[in-house]
Amino acid sequence: MPNLATNYLGLDLTSPIIVASSGLSDSIEKLIELEVHGAGAIVLKSLFEEEIIMEMDEQMHSMTSRPFVYPETFDYMDQDPHEDTLRKYLRLIKEAKSAVSIPIIASINCVSAQKWTYFAQEIEKAGADALEINLFVLPTDMNRTGDENEQIYYDVLKTVKEQVALPIALKISPYHSNLSNLIKRLDDMHVDGIVMFNRFYSPDFDIKNLSITSGQILSSSDDYKNSLRWTGIMSERVKCSIAGTTGIHTSESIIKHLLAGADAVQLASVLYKNGPEYIDVLSKELYAWMEEHNFKKISDFKGKMSQSKSNDPAAFERVQFMKQFRHFVM
Ligand SMILES: Cc1cc2nc3c(=O)[nH]c(=O)nc-3n(C[C@H](O)[C@H](O)[C@H](O)COP(=O)(O)O)c2cc1C
Repeated sequence: MPNLATNYLGLDLTSPIIVASSGLSDSIEKLIELEVHGAGAIVLKSLFEEEIIMEMDEQMHSMTSRPFVYPETFDYMDQDPHEDTLRKYLRLIKEAKSAVSIPIIASINCVSAQKWTYFAQEIEKAGADALEINLFVLPTDMNRTGDENEQIYYDVLKTVKEQVALPIALKISPYHSNLSNLIKRLDDMHVDGIVMFNRFYSPDFDIKNLSITSGQILSSSDDYKNSLRWTGIMSERVKCSIAGTTGIHTSESIIKHLLAGADAVQLASVLYKNGPEYIDVLSKELYAWMEEHNFKKISDFKGKMSQSKSNDPAAFERVQFMKQFRHFVM
């Protein structure tokens, strides 16, 4: 039987299939079920920067007349019978660590390196194995440069790294003026992993009622190509781990990402559609493919088709349709 073990963020995983941050990972019962079905690790549902700042401000103002104070805050707040979102989150981490044996990765969504970052220490104290930071600023401010927007990534990583020894993964978007430079700089700053790429809520229009509606929440099985391309381009060029995500719905797209050099993949939509037991199906198909190709372990084929090992490296950078579609007819 082939071995699915992999290393991600310096953590030993029994499988490269990670459950992505979502409502799939917001309770102990769900975490246990995901482990039973073979998840290699789980990223907890995110806390939002605004939640952290707002709740801390509220708690501190209701308990003391002092302004915002951090270090001993949680010991102090433990005396309060009302359990807020932040303490619930810390309790989820603590309970998860005794309920399951696979790595538990906490997650925070943020848009700045402001005062939320102290909370990384609480997450570390609660026993999380790593922290994933989902960072995105929609560049709508015409007075800010691209460099200014990207500086937030470096500031967040630096600030959080100064506060904790936990492995840190950054979950990023593909929308940057020079994505490879951003990833290289984060790697130089010792980020432990890059999760590429986040999928965004997109507004849509209802043209009957002239109102704004929500776009499709779940990804489709064809959405994985961008993450595959960039995993292939970057995997041999950085030291940090890479997890592919968005549109990975089949064992084929998992295998493709591993061939491109990903250390792991993160799944949400396909598990929403098919339930946590679908991890068993995907794992069995991955085993079967490895057996068929005589691969005993993931490292036997990981990165075999990355850009630098490819016999057609230019294919990764081909973006214009001209050549491929010159003879396309309907
Ligand atoms: C219902 C739902 C809730 C999600 N919640 C979060 C979240 O709290 N934090 C986060 O970083 N990503 C969240 N995501 C994004 C997923 O982690 C993942 O990056 C994205 O869905 C792409 O993977 P997929 O194509 O397998 O769904 C959510 C996705 C879905 C569908």
